[in-house]
Amino acid sequence: MCGIVGYIGKGNALSTIIGGLEALEYRGYDSAGIAYVLNQDIHIIKKQGRIESLKNAIDFSLAPSIGIGHTRWATHGEPSERNAHPHACGKFVIVHNGIIENYQELKKELEEKGYRMVSDTDTEIACALLDYLYQEDKDIIRVLTKVQDKLRGSYAFAILCYDQPDIIYAMRNQSPLIVAVSENDKYIASDVPAILEHTNEYYLLENGDIAMLKQNSLSFYHDGLEISKEKLVFEGSKEASQKDGYPHFMLKEIHEQPKVVHDTIAFYFDGTLESLDKNLPPLDKYRNIHIVACGSAYHAGLVAKTLMEEVAEIPVTCEIASEYRYKNVFYDEKTLVIVISQSGETADTLASLRKAKEDHIDTLAIVNVVGSSIAREADQVLYIKAGCEIAVATTKAYSAQIAILSLLALKLAYIRGKINRQSLLELQQEIETLPDKITELLQRQDYLRIAEKIYQRDDIFYLGRKIDYAISMEGALKLKEISYINSVSYPAGELKHGTISLVEEGTPVIGIITDSLVLEKTISNLKETSARGSHIILITNEPDKNMGDTIVIPKIHPLLQPLLTIIPLQLLAYEIARLRGCDIDKPRNLAKSVTVE
Ligand code: G6P
Repeated sequence: MCGIVGYIGKGNALSTIIGGLEALEYRGYDSAGIAYVLNQDIHIIKKQGRIESLKNAIDFSLAPSIGIGHTRWATHGEPSERNAHPHACGKFVIVHNGIIENYQELKKELEEKGYRMVSDTDTEIACALLDYLYQEDKDIIRVLTKVQDKLRGSYAFAILCYDQPDIIYAMRNQSPLIVAVSENDKYIASDVPAILEHTNEYYLLENGDIAMLKQNSLSFYHDGLEISKEKLVFEGSKEASQKDGYPHFMLKEIHEQPKVVHDTIAFYFDGTLESLDKNLPPLDKYRNIHIVACGSAYHAGLVAKTLMEEVAEIPVTCEIASEYRYKNVFYDEKTLVIVISQSGETADTLASLRKAKEDHIDTLAIVNVVGSSIAREADQVLYIKAGCEIAVATTKAYSAQIAILSLLALKLAYIRGKINRQSLLELQQEIETLPDKITELLQRQDYLRIAEKIYQRDDIFYLGRKIDYAISMEGALKLKEISYINSVSYPAGELKHGTISLVEEGTPVIGIITDSLVLEKTISNLKETSARGSHIILITNEPDKNMGDTIVIPKIHPLLQPLLTIIPLQLLAYEIARLRGCDIDKPRNLAKSVTVE
């Protein structure tokens, strides 16, 4: 959702900023731009499209020592050079991540004062506002504090001023921003990967914080007063942001799942009740659970809902965060609200968390990015051990989310007397076999063979019941995200109530069957489609069931089964997208971290 990088120091600002933007390209890639200071003047270069186009337009030998850069995911105004950041107005040049909600009214006011906008962006309005207020008061920290009062919405800004070309200002509200430091240099970035090449030491800006970066000093302000901030150290490695010989980050991340799932489970559970007690929050008092998330994290929530309801027999509501935040929600002191978010910054999920907190409901966050907003604001946080995920379409973080949620289901089941200590030990034995089972599934040759048969189709349907329906939602999303095929998931019994009219000769229908209780029912539904010409692909843990192209996966404890079922779905999506020549790691129109509504 837009990436910001700023640099001031003894090195080359151009190469440092471009390197940082490349590491943040997962946040958006509609256009990119850079502003740098040379001979006390600010120069701006912007290009539509990927950072590569911007790179080709830059003369790196200029080697300025200060600059700001941006990679954009369009919100206001089409992706074009005109709307690309940085935006300049009067004395200021800024880059922005977020959405200014009151930009229309501000625009009107500023136009009445004589400002003429050249872009369609809300960012330019913020820049004009800054310039206008600066005319009355030349103290930029004071002016930025006034700007904060006037802007509504979310923003992270990096700012240059023509009158002070040796300073970068930065400030944030609701959109993430860090200030990093190495021996000679200082950086601004939307996320840690942008700076890992140079340092792992950084400060996290909080809402309302302002930073002032000079060659020899770094100061922070809040409400107009100088404040001190705690320096943090990022523990992850920069190798995590390399492909390790895989053609795509997505494939690399799919192959990391045996380790990620193992690490995540092993961190919290060793087969004993004591480990569940010590490492997972107390759950005894809850009578119902709300799970709230977006995208794949929501799909992980749907899997958890099924597991918790089946294994722990506790009612669970699973909601999309952008709906939850605005609807009438029925919860009380016996409800636990679980929010799930890889990035920990998703705007709607964060808003849902805040809504629950305002209503004094207990909250638990399941997050990947340490120190992210959701992680910091929830009452309790459980980190998944997925490491840095770069591909826009999530794979390993989804699996790690399910791994933790399965442990929560397990703990709830124990507390509610649905399983005993012995079952915990038996489950642990199965957990130990899990990484090898995932690895074996990763090594199968089936996926490409099947993908070759179906990759040119326009529509692909996914069918399943109960847990298999929940997983098929994620399978269909993976495929549509990266291959642009219209892929939709249905509860198997529901297809005949309308959507079956879309099935024609050769339409691929991917059936998922891992729950023996509904096996025959789903098979009947698949047959209803094959009677109308569909090409069935069956993913099942029942070795004697064969229909169309069948992928048999190992059978394992129901709490762990989703972690196997998802593997063929991820790899099918990957192979289909590859055959279609798609940009797998950066699918069109998407962004990995969605910090706007
Ligand atoms: C975006 C990403 C999805 C992700 C969703 C929620 O849409 O492209 O992959 O599932 O946001 O993100 P979160 O960081 O909250 O898990």
